[in-house]
Amino acid sequence: MPKPKVLATHELFDAARQILQEACDVEYWAKPELIPRDELLQRVRDKEGLVSLLTVRVGEELLRAAPKLRIVANVAVGFDNIDVPACTARGVVATNTPGVLDETTADFAWTLLMAAARRLGEGEALARSGNWKNWDLAQLVGTDVHGKTLGIVGFGRIGKAMARRARGFNMKVIYNSPKRAPEEVEKEFAAEYRELNALLAEADFVTLHMPLNEGTRGLFDMAKFSRMKPTAFLINTARGPVVDEAALVYALESGKIAGAGLDVYENEPFILPGLKRANVVLAPHMGSASLETRTKMAVIAAENTVAFFKGQKAPNMLNPDVVQPK
Ligand code: DGY
Repeated sequence: MPKPKVLATHELFDAARQILQEACDVEYWAKPELIPRDELLQRVRDKEGLVSLLTVRVGEELLRAAPKLRIVANVAVGFDNIDVPACTARGVVATNTPGVLDETTADFAWTLLMAAARRLGEGEALARSGNWKNWDLAQLVGTDVHGKTLGIVGFGRIGKAMARRARGFNMKVIYNSPKRAPEEVEKEFAAEYRELNALLAEADFVTLHMPLNEGTRGLFDMAKFSRMKPTAFLINTARGPVVDEAALVYALESGKIAGAGLDVYENEPFILPGLKRANVVLAPHMGSASLETRTKMAVIAAENTVAFFKGQKAPNMLNPDVVQPK
């Protein structure tokens, strides 16, 4: 029997390629630039599987162009690039890669938090510039992290990984999430629940770890920034559109908040010029970018795809309503 045809919109890593190739006939997009949309729509026409990055929008247009498609395996935990109901309506399985990037993303959120608090971006630029004249008592003074209050918005796996790190910095941890965690979980993470507005008023660092959906899109607007302390920092490694970026620029310019550490943006890869400020540390969506973790993500996407084509339930199915053929 011929193997099912699969398009991978990236070369992936060897470990993932080996898994995929065992069960599928895989065509890879191997160029360094993203696959152009028309090229994608043309290549997906005869494919039964798609292993795709979060830069690929999977909605009606793509599904219409790919009448044979049966599975979309996203190489990411976030899946706001996939119209899951549209996939379900067409009987296409959608999967993601949960669980493997939590610690790595929390490491990076912490990196941004530290860098923003201690003005590392400015310090690095000065150290490289050749203009550093001397040590000075008031030079690049930032703010302490230890002993402060961390406000975690979204208390899932990554939010909890942040809480765990905060302990080592002797921080008070408060959190908000749609559902309050059970008492034993709050105890385990030494985290106290707060209504969102109360959290914003109390936290020295507000770190975002919620998914992007209709409930969270634009959640961080001017009203929210106005509640924050003028000395507080916003850290976003979740998704750009949970923040109203124009409002964030205003909040930074007007001193409503002290600074920010950002890994994600409303319209990636575009970054609003107003965000390119000294008190903002910017990164290009690299929260999960360790070799170990990115390899695991690709492997999981490959495993989801192969399991599906072997007639098993794809382990990380986002739309369990789709009935898989035996
Ligand atoms: C994800 O997986 O959703 C991240 O944004 C990229 O690792």
